[in-house]
Amino acid sequence: MITISQDHPLKELNTFGIAAKAYYFAEAQSLGALKELLALKNHPHKFILGGGSNMLLTADIDALVIHVNLKGIRIVKEDDRYVQVKVMAGENWHNLVLWTLDQNFGGLENLSLIPGNTGTAPIQNIGAYGVELKDSFVSCEALNRTTLELEEFTHAECQFGYRDSIFKNTAKDRYVITSVTFQLTKKDHVKHTTYGAIEGELQKKGIKTPTIRDISNAVIAIRSAKLPDPKDLGNSGSFFKNPVLSKEAFARFSDHYPQAPHYALPDGTFKVPAGWLIEQCGLKGKRKGDAGVHERQALVLVNHGNATGQEILGLAYEVMAAVQEKFNITISPEVNIIK
Ligand code: EPU
Repeated sequence: MITISQDHPLKELNTFGIAAKAYYFAEAQSLGALKELLALKNHPHKFILGGGSNMLLTADIDALVIHVNLKGIRIVKEDDRYVQVKVMAGENWHNLVLWTLDQNFGGLENLSLIPGNTGTAPIQNIGAYGVELKDSFVSCEALNRTTLELEEFTHAECQFGYRDSIFKNTAKDRYVITSVTFQLTKKDHVKHTTYGAIEGELQKKGIKTPTIRDISNAVIAIRSAKLPDPKDLGNSGSFFKNPVLSKEAFARFSDHYPQAPHYALPDGTFKVPAGWLIEQCGLKGKRKGDAGVHERQALVLVNHGNATGQEILGLAYEVMAAVQEKFNITISPEVNIIK
């Protein structure tokens, strides 16, 4: 059974806490309901909403908003060392990570506390502390919005990149991801602890041989110290992507700013943290009305209460212009701007 409501408030359904509404709204709690909703001819415009953690609503949504709320976690394959777990799209990401830790399944621990749902995680190939979703991803199933058939996407077909996949490019708006299958380790876990902040956190606790639970706890501690919890302060995590500079552009940049943190990428380019660039522009903690740059991580824009999406977007443009002006570097939003 499907129920469609009108003028549905979205404030609780987007982590930025923007008080926009959906002209029409329905929950899809089963694959059948999702198909039925997508097939509705009297609602030609449909908008798919997952965990609402990577978008900025700048206006009310003049469409049928379909909240994908499919639940379930199931082991589909296992041997001595590995297990494959199929997770439905509506499962909260962090709850999934906690579930894997309860089973002592390794692979997702560095991705602890990332807001959002499992079904939207592949779209931007979520990543943190030296690990990306693609490292344990096997495949996903997605409903083709035109044919209403389920299609499987292998790892290669997803074309994962830095905060990027086919679902942001050629497959954009053409599919609804309904489940994701991961391969996790049951023993001999591969631990990623070299990322500076993790090492420091483990040392602080005197932990020399960390378990995957220890790594998760370290990540939770680091994230909680730096990144605002959407429950307390609306935000969408990193608002911008870290810019990648060519070898030549980076050489010019580092001549001027030898102290700037940077990461060399395998293809000879360099990634520079946008948070550092923004902080150097003096914008960390800046506030315009209820729209703000977070005071502990300048890459994150926050809603201090009643900011509108337009106000956050206005601040984002100011930040981009300031970075362009000072460094001649273009930064671009990582968050989906919904117009
Ligand atoms: N920095 C500053 N000032 C700031 C913020 C950062 O100087 O206000 C400097 C830090 O001191 C550090 C460097 O910039 O030297 C990198 O900072 P951090 O480790 O916090 O990582 P980031 O590059 O800013 C990325 C991801 C985060 C992820 C962290 C940890 C992107 C766009 N963001 O941030 O992802 O948690 O690394 O792996 O790649 C997200 O996508 O929503 C997100 C939070």
